[in-house]
Amino acid sequence: MTETASAGLFTPFETKSLKLRNRFAMAPMTRAFSPGGVPRENVAEYYRRRAAGGTSLIITEGTLIPDPAAGPDTRVPHIYGEDSLDGWKSVVDAVHAEGSVIIPQLWHLGVQRGDSPRLNPEVTTVSPSGIALDGTPLGRAFTSSDLDQLIQYWVDAAANAKSVGFDGVELHGAHGYLLDEFLWQTTNLRDDRFGGSLEARTRFPAEVVAAIRAEVGDDFAIVYRYSQWKADHYDARIAQTPQELEKILTPLVDAGVDVLHPSTRRHWIPEFPEHDATRGLAGWTKEITGLPTITVGSVGLDKEFGSAWGPDGASGTTDLTPLFEQFERGEFDIVAVGRALLADAEWVNKVESGRLNERIAFTRDHITELV
Ligand code: FNR
Repeated sequence: MTETASAGLFTPFETKSLKLRNRFAMAPMTRAFSPGGVPRENVAEYYRRRAAGGTSLIITEGTLIPDPAAGPDTRVPHIYGEDSLDGWKSVVDAVHAEGSVIIPQLWHLGVQRGDSPRLNPEVTTVSPSGIALDGTPLGRAFTSSDLDQLIQYWVDAAANAKSVGFDGVELHGAHGYLLDEFLWQTTNLRDDRFGGSLEARTRFPAEVVAAIRAEVGDDFAIVYRYSQWKADHYDARIAQTPQELEKILTPLVDAGVDVLHPSTRRHWIPEFPEHDATRGLAGWTKEITGLPTITVGSVGLDKEFGSAWGPDGASGTTDLTPLFEQFERGEFDIVAVGRALLADAEWVNKVESGRLNERIAFTRDHITELV
């Protein structure tokens, strides 16, 4: 396969407020380089370099929504408060100046905030049922009035994003964080209308999407990231079959999602092999919903991302043939690249010009430094 195989990935793509010059996105990656929740010049420069390197869509690291219980870390950026929003405005302007598009990932960690948060330690961790991902009690469960307030926090976060010039938003509904905790039966034991059947477990995330849609208007793109796997629970699944996946995705689409971003660790793995020998989760998502999808997971790398923090975290570069083939089969519209873009801001330009052997391999240092 030659670089011509990738030509389609360098064609423009447009849906609502997202107007991309090619199909490459930067995957959302927490970096914790924003003390006090404020992204500064180094963060703006970090994203600007990826935009200048050819990445058309920047999805920022997770940004904490205004709930004081959204996250534990004092160095993760906020998407609220004047200083943080001023900081984001500089990031947005820097990325736009390079001709790229940028959306923040809106993040609430739910139970994964843990029981010893550094940010707002006086506030108790809250989640659908006060149950951690390993099934043990942690923090407390949301009351129904908490949930009304929680929806407002999501709406305020999206409105803030729009106000500083972001081109859309991504909701972090994956990896066992708050919205995913509603979907997953291990963490959602509620006996109100948000718990029980798969339809009921999908209701809260769908209500968040609908409320955001009502706030931001029809044209402002809402991307929704979801996953089967959860942090440290890589075999977890919220949908055992395509039919179950349809039950989850349809209400989200009806509520106003524009683009779906199924997070997998290896993009080429068939999701329901008993139904289709090759189709990945992005392909199934596109087939079921008809919406544009983003694929992700070990693009161009020989190790999956869970290893990235360990002593063997380094990952060599690989051929992109599986990605090109998947695109030619029509399984996705946009591809998100994670660690490869941490290692090499010029990665997309190198792929476009066929300089694959000039790509920089990923090492753990690329996580500990912001360059
Ligand atoms: C991540 N990932 C991630 N995902 C997410 O939805 N929100 C986040 O804030 C983060 N944070 C994060 C930090 C770091 C350092 C890494 C490496 C990863 C997961 C990421 O978006 C992506 O799905 C995986 O890295 C898989 O893509 P690659 O790295 O295999 O291309």
